Amino acid sequence: AANTVLAWQPDYILRISNQTIASDCQPRSSVVVNGTAPGPLLTFQEGQHYWVRVFNDLPDQNTTIHFHGFTQYTTPFSDGTPLTSQWPIPPGHFYDYEFNLEDGFHGTYWYHSHVNMQVLTAQGPVIVEPKNKTAPIDYDEDIVMMLSDDYHASDETIVAGLLNTSVFGWLGEPQNLLVNGHAPGECNETALSAGQTCNVTCGNNLQKVLPGKKYRVRVIGATVLSYIGLALEGHNMTVIEVDGTYVEPYPVVDLELGAGQRYSVIIETMQNPPKHDYHWRLRTMWRPTRVNGSALWQYDDDAPSNCPYDNHGPVSSAATPTNLNETVYLPEEKFGWYSDDFVQWNSTEYPPTDDEVTRVIVLNGQQLVAGKSGFRWSVNNHLYNGTTPHVPYLVGLYSENPTERMPNYSIALQHGGYDPLSNTYPAKLGEVLDIVIENHAGPTSGMAEAHPWHSHGRKYWDMGSGTGNFSYAALNASRAAAKGLPYLRDTSVVYPSPGAAYNGSVTGNYSDAGWRLFRIKVEDPGTWLVHCHITPHQVMGMMTVFMYGAEDLAPIPESLVHEFLTYGGGAYGERTY
Ligand code: C2O
Ligand code: CU
Repeated sequence: AANTVLAWQPDYILRISNQTIASDCQPRSSVVVNGTAPGPLLTFQEGQHYWVRVFNDLPDQNTTIHFHGFTQYTTPFSDGTPLTSQWPIPPGHFYDYEFNLEDGFHGTYWYHSHVNMQVLTAQGPVIVEPKNKTAPIDYDEDIVMMLSDDYHASDETIVAGLLNTSVFGWLGEPQNLLVNGHAPGECNETALSAGQTCNVTCGNNLQKVLPGKKYRVRVIGATVLSYIGLALEGHNMTVIEVDGTYVEPYPVVDLELGAGQRYSVIIETMQNPPKHDYHWRLRTMWRPTRVNGSALWQYDDDAPSNCPYDNHGPVSSAATPTNLNETVYLPEEKFGWYSDDFVQWNSTEYPPTDDEVTRVIVLNGQQLVAGKSGFRWSVNNHLYNGTTPHVPYLVGLYSENPTERMPNYSIALQHGGYDPLSNTYPAKLGEVLDIVIENHAGPTSGMAEAHPWHSHGRKYWDMGSGTGNFSYAALNASRAAAKGLPYLRDTSVVYPSPGAAYNGSVTGNYSDAGWRLFRIKVEDPGTWLVHCHITPHQVMGMMTVFMYGAEDLAPIPESLVHEFLTYGGGAYGERTY
């Protein structure tokens, strides 16, 4: 690695490398951050400026790091999107991510690689501390619960299947659900005597808690596929944060997170708990089959703390763990969940009104690409250009001939907002966009699925959702049913709607469309991905680029120019440097 002498110190150094880890006793070669999965917790302060240096120590793969949910309002070159905001970082190189956290920007975030399937294990939690420590409910301590799914197949095998042009290979459901990188119940005598080696200590996702405390549990949906429902036996929870936005305290019996979403819940522990062990139940939702998981909260006392799962046997990932003798509430699919019920806490910020909206852009997000062999998904029939090595959109705008790469607004207006020359949806600063994401039934299965859509850059106003096709009448109905004004977030689930064939079961047919509307004030020059956060869907192309304020880009810091303009390589499926 090219180690130059720094005139300054990065605030954090992340090293991306390949390690054999065994989250559930099954050794697997995985891309990790600073040697572990998840990587270290990074904490930042609202209103401060940071540098994070990322080294690519992988022998043969590119990488990038994206800070999920960060605005990057003066630093579009730090968004970490390969072939969109930057060239991917080739092996043996580093990239310096610089960002300014705005006043008012705080909450629960995460960082992850944006290359191929690396996010599966190359990820870690982020807490941005507010200047003013008041929260909707005061609390004593933070607990991070990073939820991820675990696959035994390698990243390469999964990607090769997805991009196979003759026989499509779907990765299927995960083998386990992990909490902070660990699957409970697997590291037991049975697994060990079956010859599986294990480098995790039994009960590692056991969390000790104290009686009579208020915990802020920061739950991060860091999965590649799974939509996870979770609940804690014997305890209530109250939502106070949604993707970095404080909301009026909202009591729930369970949480549901799509990939990329975060919630903070306050959980008050009992003063005199009748027993020591309380289970979290996790289960996947909105998929043809369920996968189960669990974690444990144990009241800290003198009771023996050997593997608590010995009493219950291993938690099978295939079947409902009926061997848990406690009664734990089991989350069930709920169309829309509570997502349209939250109300911003203590906020004087309101969404732009309908009158202020300058344009409506409808994204139809799951289309098979005509004339392509294999299985590629497009957005509005445009395939995200992530496979062919091309100059990343943002690098192009900073190159010697930026005028050639400038978007053509009048052509875009004739194509539903899409500019075929720049291959992006361009918008000018000051515009207000209504981005409608419509979720139709898949092209081959005829089934509609739930997709968690994420918008890079500034948070959008989540204006509401509904079934069928979008209309403003439907939006008004959704708003009328909501408990308050829309709130700001960065990842929302676009639900399918049940359709006539729905049989009430999880494996039933969700055959009709659903929609959700993101209202965005165009303020930050840069190139921002809008995509489904289900990683295999991304690899298959379910992504698109919005290009904001191409004429108003801030200059690149001198120290970044070289690495920004010169590194080169493909990110999805291709490894050319
Ligand atoms: Cu969590 Cu495009 O990212
Ligand atoms: Cu998707």
